[in-house]
Amino acid sequence: MKLWNRKKPHFPVLVFFFSLFLVFSILHNERSILQIQDHPDHAPRHHIPVTYVKPNRLTHQNHVTEVLDRFSTCNSTREYSGRKIAWTDNLTPEPLHGGRGESLESCDVFSGKWVYDNSSYPLYNESECPYMSDQLACHKHGRSDLDYQYWRWQPHNCNLKRWNVIDMWEKLRGKRLMFVGDSLNRGQWISMVCLLQSVIPKDKRSMSPNAALTIFRAEEYNATVEFLWAPLLVESNSDDPVNHRLEDRIIRPDSVLKHASIWENADILIFNSYLWWRQGPVKLLWSTEANSVCEELDGMGAMELAMGAWAEWASKVDPLKKRVFFVTMSPTHLWSREWKPGNEGNCYSEKSPIDLEGYWGSGSDLPTMNMVDNVLSKLNSKVSVLNITQLSEYRKDGHPSIYRKFWEALKPEQLSNPASYSDCIHWCLPGVPDVWNELVYHFL
Ligand SMILES: *[C@@H]1O[C@H](CO)[C@@H](O)[C@H](O)[C@H]1NC(C)=O
Ligand SMILES: *[C@@H]1O[C@H](CO)[C@@H](O)[C@H](O)[C@H]1NC(C)=O
Ligand SMILES: *[C@@H]1O[C@H](CO)[C@@H](O)[C@H](O)[C@H]1NC(C)=O
Ligand SMILES: *[C@@H]1O[C@H](CO)[C@@H](O)[C@H](O)[C@H]1NC(C)=O
Ligand SMILES: *[C@@H]1O[C@H](CO)[C@@H](O)[C@H](O)[C@H]1NC(C)=O
Repeated sequence: MKLWNRKKPHFPVLVFFFSLFLVFSILHNERSILQIQDHPDHAPRHHIPVTYVKPNRLTHQNHVTEVLDRFSTCNSTREYSGRKIAWTDNLTPEPLHGGRGESLESCDVFSGKWVYDNSSYPLYNESECPYMSDQLACHKHGRSDLDYQYWRWQPHNCNLKRWNVIDMWEKLRGKRLMFVGDSLNRGQWISMVCLLQSVIPKDKRSMSPNAALTIFRAEEYNATVEFLWAPLLVESNSDDPVNHRLEDRIIRPDSVLKHASIWENADILIFNSYLWWRQGPVKLLWSTEANSVCEELDGMGAMELAMGAWAEWASKVDPLKKRVFFVTMSPTHLWSREWKPGNEGNCYSEKSPIDLEGYWGSGSDLPTMNMVDNVLSKLNSKVSVLNITQLSEYRKDGHPSIYRKFWEALKPEQLSNPASYSDCIHWCLPGVPDVWNELVYHFL
């Protein structure tokens, strides 16, 4: 850790470490997510010759690539070799219509404002959704200000299609809808299940036990709404849905094959990936390395490789047969000084959205957004972008803060300072992810 605050007076340093402690303690307690570094290293990489690797290849029979698990280790670690992912080869130039949301209509539905609307929101009741997660059920865990449930997203130049649960089920009839990603994506999946489940009789629906792949089934519609835990998209040592709090992240930067064998059969796919790349350097274990020799790369560089391997898979999708969405970065609200200069808190006790148009916090990394833009623009008609970053940036009031279940007992010094253990990363339900799902519905 760099002590870049060294020249400043002691107070900010303390606040800084305190905040790191805070983030660490939330995330450490959180079985399903991460430790985030506030300042990830975009270390300059100099003069490394670039070579290109074809991703998603089954390696030669003479050495079967081992599947990574949480016990995988690196035999040794060397400097990044400069290998990149080649994935644009099988992209043929395509006309600019179909597939991608924005081109279906002229209105940018991601640009707009939050409007208080307690007559049509929330779209479901927290207590009436049997699949609600204790990490997201804020009212149940003591939150008494409920305005966070009453906001509607209003695009500037058009209206969102009004949520209609029966119409949504008709779109899903005979289909598999699968969310693939991290705990933010799992929150969106729970939101979708809660939005959908109320109209299905109890004996006609089921939820499979919690595993890497969790499946909600609705018999009458012969449809499923599923969640696959794959926080880094590519194969990694963090793919266990419960035990993934590991010191070192090890990824196979050139392969989504393990996960793709599961998601391949879905009809509608919703991917996300971001926060897991914000925790410092990542170890790369290329499929061709027989002796577990790893390389090390900064988080964003590693994410770019993973996005490449994923994009190579996505570039082969027939958009008439499969819908693929990518959800952009979910913002965090860890530093209230960003919306309230001089204030040293976080999302704790925030009760209303930010109304400054275009507000953007430091948790949403612009270089990452540019990299994702770049990948997705090449995939153009294959993948629809759910650009939820800006609209969610406004919602400093939407996080659980202290109103969720924490996995480990809280210490007295934490309890006496609620901001110290607030979760400003995930989102309360009903809440912001419901709107992300309304956007999915809008584009289906
Ligand atoms: C909606 O909010 C308004 C203003 O806060 C309040 O007067 C009204 O009773 C609320 N309606 C419902 C249905 O809660
Ligand atoms: C939520 O519950 C309240 C009463 O508890 C009820 O009036 C309301 O209609 C319910 N809302 C939905 C969306 O089911
Ligand atoms: C149910 O959906 C699956 C695809 O998810 C399909 O293969 C199967 O034929 C469907 N069954 C019926 C009875 O429609
Ligand atoms: C580590 O390297 C040694 C030789 O360099 C090799 O024999 C061994 O199989 C490697 N371990 C793994 C897990 O690949
Ligand atoms: C998402 O929207 C932001 C503006 O809010 C824009 O800068 C960015 O390029 C968009 N990203 C994608 C992938 O569409």
